[in-house]
Amino acid sequence: MKNLPAKNSVEQAGAWKDTDGHFINAHGGGMLFHKGMYYWFGEIKKGKTWLVPDQSWECYRVPAGGISCYSSKDLKAWKYEGVVLSATTNNRRSDLDTSNVIERPKVIYNQKTGQFVLWMHIDHKDYSYAHAGVAVSDKPTGPYRYLGSLKPNGHDSRDMTLFQDDDGKAYLVHSSENNNTMHINLLSDDYLKPTRQYIRILEGKRREAPALVKQAGKYYLITSDCTGWSPNPASVAVADSPLGTWTTQANPCVGPNAATTFQSQSTYIVPIDPKRDKFLFMADRWNKTNLPDSRYVWLPMEIKAGKVTIQWQNERP
Ligand code: GAL
Repeated sequence: MKNLPAKNSVEQAGAWKDTDGHFINAHGGGMLFHKGMYYWFGEIKKGKTWLVPDQSWECYRVPAGGISCYSSKDLKAWKYEGVVLSATTNNRRSDLDTSNVIERPKVIYNQKTGQFVLWMHIDHKDYSYAHAGVAVSDKPTGPYRYLGSLKPNGHDSRDMTLFQDDDGKAYLVHSSENNNTMHINLLSDDYLKPTRQYIRILEGKRREAPALVKQAGKYYLITSDCTGWSPNPASVAVADSPLGTWTTQANPCVGPNAATTFQSQSTYIVPIDPKRDKFLFMADRWNKTNLPDSRYVWLPMEIKAGKVTIQWQNERP
């Protein structure tokens, strides 16, 4: 007998809706947990998908749509909190102009300054600008005030994530050196700038879509291969500290379609209950020729005895 999803369950890569019944528009997203509430931030993808001409890869894109936020207490019912960082129009010099690229937003809370700090990938339509942008707000749900963008320690920055450690230190992890090598930068105490302390990891391995978690004193970084919007195998790197030595492990995905990360690409890992090995792996199933129709795949992730496993299941956990 066919395994039917349980009543009220939400299927993976289905049309996930918010509590108003609208499609959730939060791609390449990240999750903040603050005072008992989850906040999901993501790229707003709307408008017509077009192929940027004269590129050496399939550079499909939509106008930059800004950043959205949804909130939930249970990771199931998602309330739309609105646009927390808007794109601007008719000013190509502005990082946030719709003609540019605003991707992979991640938010962390700075205890010392009381500010929510949002970092994101800012680029030009051909991805030649390769900057990391930063914005702040007094509230998780924004609006966020854009402070500008930079090349961390002078290096290009495309796919990125943030990681906040238990000791209050935070790190910006980004694909650099033309996507050949990943960099991990220690951020300043206010989280608004990279410090001079950074390391180069996964040298020449061409990894993207970083997502980092900690469990039992070890750090686990999941990345994708570098194949544009098309899915590819994930891999894991492990270290004893964010600026330490990283060693690679195999693809953590098991089961059908494990070789394409279940036809999706990593974006964030939520530590649900690390003591009981429980994490939530968040990924995007891109639809490259119709980007606003891209979907989400969320899977349970386990870390047991230093080994990461992501197993397929039909319903959203
Ligand atoms: C992917 C990347 C996405 C987006 C895309 C553009 O590899 O992970 O975030 O930048 O390339 O082609």
